[in-house]
Amino acid sequence: MSVLLEVQELSKTYRVKEDWFKKKDIPALSALSFELEAQRTLAIVGEMGSGKSTLAKLLVGAEHPTTGKIKLNGQHLEPGNFKQRCQHIRMIFQDSATTLNPSLTIGQLLDEPLKINTNLDEAEREQLIKVTLLKVGLLAEHMNFYPHMFSGGQKQRIALARAIILSPQVVILDEALAALDPSLRSQMINLLLDLQQQMGLAFILISHNLGIVRHFSDEVMVLSDGKVVEYGSTSSVLKNPKHKYTKKLIMNQKLQMTQKLN
Ligand SMILES: Nc1ncnc2c1ncn2[C@@H]1O[C@H](COP(=O)(O)OP(=O)(O)OP(=O)(O)O)[C@@H](O)[C@H]1O
Ligand SMILES: [Mg+2]
Repeated sequence: MSVLLEVQELSKTYRVKEDWFKKKDIPALSALSFELEAQRTLAIVGEMGSGKSTLAKLLVGAEHPTTGKIKLNGQHLEPGNFKQRCQHIRMIFQDSATTLNPSLTIGQLLDEPLKINTNLDEAEREQLIKVTLLKVGLLAEHMNFYPHMFSGGQKQRIALARAIILSPQVVILDEALAALDPSLRSQMINLLLDLQQQMGLAFILISHNLGIVRHFSDEVMVLSDGKVVEYGSTSSVLKNPKHKYTKKLIMNQKLQMTQKLN
């Protein structure tokens, strides 16, 4: 399969005020490179503040890289071309469900990206909204409901519907499964894997949960202080971890498993 997303030497440095007179640079991401094929999942793991969400923001174009390049299907993504990104690279995050505008119906919420990014007429948009709701395991009539009428798990499916309605190629899940309880989480993972097959989606999965990473991803990249410290197939990295953070993560997961068994 050919490469879909190519990230070359991507760096981001934030300049923040240290005090009234001085500024300091925070290197949030340093020279990160990877390739991702369609229908594959790359997991990004790392400690708090290691640069995971910064990478996500650079990929969706919400932040501009300090240096480096992002290519999709061999074409450079221009930093300013937000519309181009919106169609192809979408993101869901942990609190996506809580950020749904409470005064809009689900139909209106899903219509927003369609109005901005497509030339579809009203009837075509309504049809696409209904099909997308069914795809994420909701009902067509849910388009007339308001966000407060849904459970947390259902709201996360609405966020997913919003992410896939433009048929993107890459979906970034930034801790998108973290707030769900284990049974809802495994339902959501199965749904995501089904959609990946149906739509050929590539996922970038940002997670602190090794169980999810193991189950879901083909490759894993470990970040520490904005730098890649491990990168390889998920099975080989988790079988033979080299970096201390990866080892600690595996230890913690084993501990949690024994606590559950006792
Ligand atoms: N807008 C910003 N301005 C200044 N510094 C920022 C900004 N966004 C992120 N940072 C800094 O960049 C670094 C990386 O942050 P980032 O949010 O990417 O971490 P993360 O790996 O997603 O962490 P977490 O696991 O807690 O979500 C941190 O030191 C953070 O404080
Ligand atoms: Mg983050």
